[in-house]
Amino acid sequence: MTLNTIEANQARQALDQYDEIWLFGYGSLIYKVDFPFTHKQPAFITGWARRFWQGSHDHRGTPEQPGRVVTLIEDAGNRCDGMAYKVTADVFEHLDHREKNGYLRHEVALHLIEPTGDITQKLGLIYIADQDNDAFLGQTSEKKIAEHIAKSSGPSGENAEYALLLASALRTLNADDDHVFLIERYLRSI
Ligand code: SIN
Repeated sequence: MTLNTIEANQARQALDQYDEIWLFGYGSLIYKVDFPFTHKQPAFITGWARRFWQGSHDHRGTPEQPGRVVTLIEDAGNRCDGMAYKVTADVFEHLDHREKNGYLRHEVALHLIEPTGDITQKLGLIYIADQDNDAFLGQTSEKKIAEHIAKSSGPSGENAEYALLLASALRTLNADDDHVFLIERYLRSI
């Protein structure tokens, strides 16, 4: 698969088929909201685990020295918390560009967490970098991931900033994520 996924994403879902569009963010889309939305709500998905296994050539690293950013890995029964945004179809021009380094748009079953604690089910869209994309770096220990992140940076800034902002956003959401919080601890000790 080629690395730039813009064209592949534009050919995926016909966005005009949806009455409403919910985007689910589980990485930088939680804390770096550079797109318009009409509503946002904490949400979770199931069956996926957030992992720093994707290479970043364009934001937190370079093609020569990719950084590490999150993608989702299938993990039956696991809950992954994030933020859902109600958006209009036109924001995907920007988002497809932002997420072009290996991420493909998928449909996902979303669980919106209402202020009352009730859960509302919605169909959502999500960007996932599959394990066969050219920038995928794969599994290694959280310690090695933190060491890699500590020495990486790219056009969007230090890789460590990405990881620390994500950890802090997840804490604000009261989300459990041992992988991210362990990497955060290692980063703070480096
Ligand atoms: C996401 O945030 O949902 C996708 C991964 C990223 O952009 O960090």
